[in-house]
Amino acid sequence: MIKIERRSFIRNGLAAGIALSAAPTIIHANDDRPVRLGFIGIGGRGTGLLKTAMRLPHVAIKAVCDTHKPNLKTAQNLVVETQGQKPEGYGDHEFSYLDLLKRDDLDGVVIATPWELHIPMTIAAMKAGKYVATEVGPASSVDECWELVNTYEETRAPCMLLENYCYFRYNMAVLNMVRQGLFGEVIHCSCGYGHDLRARIVLGKGTGPKPKGEGDYRSRHNQFRNGDLYPTHGMGPIAQCLNIQRGNRFQHLTSTASKSRGLSKWSKDNLEPGHKRRDISWAQGDIVTTTLKCFNGETVVLTFDTRLPRPMSFMYQVQGTAGMWMQDGDSSSRNKSVIYLDGKSPHHQWEPFNPYQEKFEHPIWKSYLHEAETSGHGGTDFLELREFVSSIRNKTTTSIDAYDAAAWMAIAPLSEASISTGSSPIAFPDFTDGAWMTNKPIFGLV
Ligand SMILES: NC(=O)c1ccc[n+]([C@@H]2O[C@H](COP(=O)([O-])OP(=O)(O)OC[C@H]3O[C@@H](n4cnc5c(N)ncnc54)[C@H](O)[C@@H]3O)[C@@H](O)[C@H]2O)c1
Repeated sequence: MIKIERRSFIRNGLAAGIALSAAPTIIHANDDRPVRLGFIGIGGRGTGLLKTAMRLPHVAIKAVCDTHKPNLKTAQNLVVETQGQKPEGYGDHEFSYLDLLKRDDLDGVVIATPWELHIPMTIAAMKAGKYVATEVGPASSVDECWELVNTYEETRAPCMLLENYCYFRYNMAVLNMVRQGLFGEVIHCSCGYGHDLRARIVLGKGTGPKPKGEGDYRSRHNQFRNGDLYPTHGMGPIAQCLNIQRGNRFQHLTSTASKSRGLSKWSKDNLEPGHKRRDISWAQGDIVTTTLKCFNGETVVLTFDTRLPRPMSFMYQVQGTAGMWMQDGDSSSRNKSVIYLDGKSPHHQWEPFNPYQEKFEHPIWKSYLHEAETSGHGGTDFLELREFVSSIRNKTTTSIDAYDAAAWMAIAPLSEASISTGSSPIAFPDFTDGAWMTNKPIFGLV
């Protein structure tokens, strides 16, 4: 793992430059050096992250940016209530975040804006010499992913994709089990994003305190694109199990989209004739199934399913030569996981995962059980931000980095390319330029 030294070539003189090795480490409880953060995009998700960040010790929120004035004000008030100081506000126009990035009193920024802004804003933040944590979503193009990686290599400003699902308690226990060889050699995995978002997509509503009214990012992307537009919640934890970018890599994929009916039917059933969102023609197929082949021979089936009625599920499955783990229905609960270990479980019978969860609890969860369990998304928000802040404080790289972000987010444009050419196989770029062969895992180390 990699330690960042203070060097002067970045404009504001903050952390930059790769030097000696040192893993992203757990925050030292008695480490009270302040970490100064700025937030860009404070709708539903940004507000949740802001609240979580302020629960971490010695984190000061210095600046916030949102083009929607009510959201900006809400965020400023929240910081005043919690920290007693009003952060500087930015948001007069869509590029106001560039003014925030010019500040020399920020160690890092957290980005939770609409999908298409993540990578451009991350690149600008890296160029400004800040540590960056950016929310999940699809890349707009493969070129954009290359630009992300190239900018990281030029600036060495660490960039963390906030893929909180990597930190789910059950996912980290399974990763622990994979690393201890419980499943033997991993052969096949599945994962996905199954979440009924029909109302949100059609009406264009964000999750926050009424961010921009109708027509937000989910709507736009579903209207004009047809691919796996939310690949990282599914793929993040599975990529960790498969050592993607670190001893393994995605080699090629094929994607197939079903017909598109879910959003139109929901609109007809729920909106009055004449409603301006009722007759949109949606490009996005209801179910997109992507099969990825890895260089080391494993396969992954990834499903994107947000336009039909259904309860939530992330469809995780890890299968190897010695057994398998599978989620059975509700992904929010580890109680719904089942496991089968050859020669250990009763012959050809599923066992509940819970006892294994206790036995193979990941050390990070053991350390932060109490704090995590009382924070958002089953504790994952706390754990990811804790690691981000810890990386800043300890001047290390982040445990999910620019190469992970590029590979996971690139699935979106690559799946679109496959679908638009009759499910043809699309080669996966090697964003590490061969370094994947010698890179070692960095996630979930303590
Ligand atoms: N990891 C998770 O579990 C999780 C959960 C929900 C959302 N998300 C992701 O978080 C992101 C935000 O989602 P959301 O639900 O909060 O959306 P939202 O619409 O509620 O919030 C987005 C905010 O960005 C602001 N914004 C737009 N353009 C801007 C600009 N140029 N400069 C500054 N601010 C700008 C908007 O005004 C709005 O307040 C999305 O990428 C989404 O995929 C992740």
